[in-house]
Amino acid sequence: MSRVSFVNGMYCDYKLASVHIEDRGYQFADGVYEVFAVINSKLIDYDGHINRLYKSLKEIKLTSPLAKESYLFHIKNLVKKNYINNGLIYLQVTRGVSKRDFKFPKNVKPSVVIIANSIPKDEYEKKFSRGIKVKTTQDLRWKRVDIKTLNLLPPVLAKQIAVENKCDEAWLIDDKGFITEGSSSNAWILKNNTLITRPVSNSILNGITRTSLIKSLKLKKLKIKERPFNLKDIKTADEAFITSATQFVMPVIRVDNIKIGNGKVGKNAELFKNSYMEAVQLK
Ligand code: PDD
Repeated sequence: MSRVSFVNGMYCDYKLASVHIEDRGYQFADGVYEVFAVINSKLIDYDGHINRLYKSLKEIKLTSPLAKESYLFHIKNLVKKNYINNGLIYLQVTRGVSKRDFKFPKNVKPSVVIIANSIPKDEYEKKFSRGIKVKTTQDLRWKRVDIKTLNLLPPVLAKQIAVENKCDEAWLIDDKGFITEGSSSNAWILKNNTLITRPVSNSILNGITRTSLIKSLKLKKLKIKERPFNLKDIKTADEAFITSATQFVMPVIRVDNIKIGNGKVGKNAELFKNSYMEAVQLK
């Protein structure tokens, strides 16, 4: 077996790993997921991510089929079996396999899938040194995006709009003209030495990277303001960033036609990234 994945209690060849056609994740997006980063074969912020998985499961009224320690055991096994030095772990829990019917099925075991992916170490560094471009687009998602569900069609469409506009990420705009977050990341601007990001609510995912970054910057006595920001704020921003488990802290150099600062990676990007890296818990 070369690449190995975990499907419902079994380790199997990645190429052959599959779930049934009537899995509710497949038919209804009836499930939740987490993405964990791996650096030097260690899991980053495991506790934050696994606790959020439990929170998401609770919100969709699904009892976890595994204990927290079992998830950790299988994730660590996959890191080893796939020789992951740098990369990510994707973990998904759905309401299981049952004949298509909207209401919850009875006596059905949830499906658990875990996938491990290697990512070349220099991929992030290269992207970081260039900075990324962002395209704004309307936030078309449902009203509970604080739950990390499989219901990802709106962010998929938003990311595609970004890519078609030669950008790396989409920033989603709410009905009042404020940025909620990225299609798969949290959004930040830096203005007059204050880092600004939208406060936690039902309209953003409470990023684990976001939480760790805020904690680490507060220790350094850097100014952080949790408030919504709009395109007018972006026009006068000195720097901008996204954060996520896969991008850590990533500088943004352009939003639509707006050049951020002088259009190059700003001087605080490295500081914020290092601060985050120092603060994360490794497992
Ligand atoms: N996405 N906001 C959204 C909508 C996200 O999908 C993500 C993460 C984040 C950042 O959360 P965290 O820092 O906990 O990764 C914010 C993951 C990486 C994904 O779907 O691939």
